[in-house]
Formats: sequence, C-alpha cells, structure tokens
Amino acid sequence: MASRRSRAPVEADFLVIGSGVAGLRAALELSRSGRVMVLTKGHPLQSSSIHAQGGVAVAMSEEDDVAIHLTDTLKAGHGLCRKEAVRVLVEEGPARIQELIGWGAKFDKVGGKFAFAREAAHSRSRILRARGDATGNEMVRVLIAEVNRQKQIQRLDHHFTVDLVVDAGRCCGAVVLDEGSGRQFVLPARAIVLTTGGAGQIYARTTNPANATGDGMAMALRAGAVLQDMEFVQFHPTALYLPSSPPFLLSEAMRGEGAQLRNNKGALFMQRYHPMGALAPRDIVSRAILAEMAATKARHVYLDVTHLGAEFVKRRFPTIYATCLRYDIDITEEWIPVSPSAHYMMGGVWTDLNGATTVPGLFAAGEVACSGVHGANRLASNSLLEGLVFGARAATVAVAFAGRHDIPQLSSQEAAIRAGQFGTLDDAEKLRSSLRRTMWGQVGVIRSGESLIRACAQLSRWAQLVAQPFASRAALEVKNMVQVAQCVAEAALWRENSVGAHYRSDCPEAKRAGWQQHSRLSSGEVVSGKTLQKKSRGLLLSLRGRIG
Ligand code: SIN
Repeated sequence: MASRRSRAPVEADFLVIGSGVAGLRAALELSRSGRVMVLTKGHPLQSSSIHAQGGVAVAMSEEDDVAIHLTDTLKAGHGLCRKEAVRVLVEEGPARIQELIGWGAKFDKVGGKFAFAREAAHSRSRILRARGDATGNEMVRVLIAEVNRQKQIQRLDHHFTVDLVVDAGRCCGAVVLDEGSGRQFVLPARAIVLTTGGAGQIYARTTNPANATGDGMAMALRAGAVLQDMEFVQFHPTALYLPSSPPFLLSEAMRGEGAQLRNNKGALFMQRYHPMGALAPRDIVSRAILAEMAATKARHVYLDVTHLGAEFVKRRFPTIYATCLRYDIDITEEWIPVSPSAHYMMGGVWTDLNGATTVPGLFAAGEVACSGVHGANRLASNSLLEGLVFGARAATVAVAFAGRHDIPQLSSQEAAIRAGQFGTLDDAEKLRSSLRRTMWGQVGVIRSGESLIRACAQLSRWAQLVAQPFASRAALEVKNMVQVAQCVAEAALWRENSVGAHYRSDCPEAKRAGWQQHSRLSSGEVVSGKTLQKKSRGLLLSLRGRIG
C-alpha cells in the first residue's frame, strides 16, 4: 500500500499523549510554561478514567491520616511498592483534591460533610465519590472544562499516536495518525508526557473501555524505555456476566455498603476464604469466585444487594442501577450475575518519582506508568489520585527538561516516514479476539508455568505478523496488544512465586529466594546497565532490583 503520511499541521512545546485524569492534569501544569498539544485516540470522554465508579482514595476524613493511607497501600502492594512513591501519593493527594474542588468538582456530602466510603483493604473510610458512582466522570468533566479554558492547550481528538520519535537518544516527537483522513505526520516537541492508560483489552474479559489497548506501553518499549512489573495485572472480582453485555464494572463500593457474594446455589461463600469476607483483597475474592464457579459448574456467581433497600441502592449506585436495568436486571430485586475481569495494570513504563522514564524527554504518568505506587496489587481507588498527583509531577519535570531543549527539526524523520510503505494485517479483528482469549485462558487470574510457556510461544508467532508498520488504527492497536501481551506473559513466566495479583498454580508460595526483585523488560539494551540474565523472543528480560 502506498504511503499516506504528510506534514504536521501544528507545533507545540509539549505533547501529552492520552487524556484521562493524568493527561488532563499534566496538560494544565504544562500550559503555564508553553504550548501544549493533547493527543487523544477517539475522544477524551472514552478514557478509562471516566468509567471509574467507586471513587478516589484520599486521607481527608477526620478519622484518617496520610500515615494510615500509606500503610494500607504498602500492605496491598505485598512488599513490592516503592515506599517513597507511595509517600508522595498520600502526602500530595489531599492538595490535588482540594485543587480539583476549587476548579468545580462536586464530591458527595452527607450532612454538609464529605461522605467517605469504605472499600476492600482500606482500614478507614476514605473513598470520596461523586454522583454516587460517577466519580471518574465528574473528575474528567472538571478537568476538561479547565483544559478548554486554557488558550495554551490545543486538543487533537481522534488522533492516534503511532510511535514516539527518538533522535540522538532523546524523545522529541511523535508519529501521529489522523483517524479521519488516514494521514500520518510527525509532531515535534521539547518534551512528551505519556498518559495513555492501561491495556485491559488484551484480555477477553475486561472492565476497561475498547480503547485500552496498551498503546503507550508498546510505543515506549519500541522507543527504548523499560517496562517494569508487567506480570501484575489486577482482576476485578465483580464485573457483570451476561452473554449479551460487555463486562460492566460493579463497583467494590457495593460490597463496601454490604453487598454479598453468593454462589450458583445461593450460598454465601466468602467467609470460607478470608476473614474479611466479601471485602477481602481483590485477588483473593477473584480466585474464590473462580473456585466456586468450578465447584458448582457455573459460569458466574451472584452479587446480591437486594437486602440494602431499593431507595438506597438507586440513590447510591444510580449508574449501575440504570445500566443493569438496560440489560433487564433490576438489581433492587434480583441477584446480579458476576465474574472476574481484567481491570488494572500495576506494571507499566518505569518512571522515577517525578515521572521521568529511562528515555530523556519522555515522561509518563497514570496507568501507563509504573511509578512503584501499586507494587504487586493496587489498593482500590488509588489510581485516580495517582493520575492527579503524578500527572502534575511529570509535567513539572517535563517543563524543566524543555527549558534545556529546543523544538527539534524532524525533517529527515518526516522524509523517511513519507517514503515508508505500510503492511497489511489480514483479519485484525480475528487476531485481536484470539489474543484476548489466549491471554484470558493462559495468562489470567491463575497462571502456571505450562500455560505461560504455551502463551509465550503463541504470542511470539503473532509478533512476527505485526512486526511491520501499518496504516490503520485497528492494525496498529493489535500490534500494540501483541507486544504488551508478550511482556505480561514473559514477566509472569519469569516470576516463579505467587504474590499480590500474580498467582502461579505451580508455585503458590509467596516468598521464594529473590521474590522482592522486579521484572524489567526492554527491547534494546538494558538502560540501567544491570545484569542481563535472559534474552527471550526479542525481549530483554532484566531481573535485578528496580532501577534507581
Ligand atoms: C471499583 O469501583 O470497584 C473500582 C475502583 C478501583 O478499581 O479503584
């Protein structure tokens, strides 16, 4: 196919790739120091952030303290969090929330005071919410309104970022696909902030929106960045299970309010698995649900809120109530069929405490990044806070970097791109679907060495099919999904213990020699210069402790 790439119509000091909470907050910070271009595939109202229901965890209630939030987060992370990053999160979080309130965010109140809810593994009620179960929606609404007020920020919606441009070791631009015209062009910038979110779509069942295809992780890997902790994928225990519907999230806040889990025979079962019952950590609840499904030969279990009272349920969970009703389930009267779904990537592009990656000029924040905040398992509702805190921090260091670097001339890259040829991917949809099923079956809630070896071999065959450049968003997404899935499977194969969200049926013990190491993957030379122990199917797997 002939090249359809052409010159960029615009120029900016900063590129922000992705427009969830982290990206929008970063853009606001950057706009104080230069022109900002926010690139979004599709529309900002399609981000993962906007779907976040339960809320945002922040130590602001009278009974709470940042030290307790810190302890709960470290405990959830099973000894694999970076403590300094967690400290940054919990200490800077309250100020970021106050700032959002100043911009107009309306969090729910009871008796004139903020209402703080409880979720699994939190020892205090600390989850702020908006419109019952529409917290992410409210935060994105306020941030977009603020972004739209800033003349220094330009939004390029429906623009898919194909790749990062690295010149003389510095990330200094991006190749972008205009989804409307099909044209590709180069956008140069002084600094780039990556905030593309997660990769839930690599799994057949996921609470993530259709655009969560791991683009940022894959393009950062291709640009030479390091991915850390990719084996840690959080599965949410309660997503709607209906053959005709996507796995819509049924917030953990429902269990926080007293919702119960029942097996296919109607029996309550969680107390048999954990003293905290239905509010046990997510990985334990997810595995308990799978065990009950197997024992009762069922495809799902049930979430029961019928005892909470119809008025309360409708007021507290209006979005969930209305969505289930659309699928003919009145949750005030009927049990809801649920099963686990891929929900959140704890791993991602390695960053330091300020969002700097190992590639100069490239910064990352939010789910695409691995700042070390989540360790082996994320504490519920910490991610919206992470987006705000680390979005702002990444922007601050990007500004400092940009002060020392000009906007580059990328004419040779443009010429190379214009001369390039695109490959074709026959039946991208079929490959996407096969990949999702492979990941769900072999790299899912419970993995084993055997299933991972099979998955890695299959993914490596698919990687050959997607090695070339493509013209369409559909093919480019599948390419990214294959690469991210390979990273998850390779890291999961390497980690021969079961910790946090990573469970290996062939090595269920939590602590084996070296269990506190972090997996780190790169596609080129290992940036940190630490020992390389394995080269596997085109990926370098470096097994030493964390960088920096
Ligand atoms: C939920 O509402 O259960 C999801 C919240 C989260 O994953 O942080």
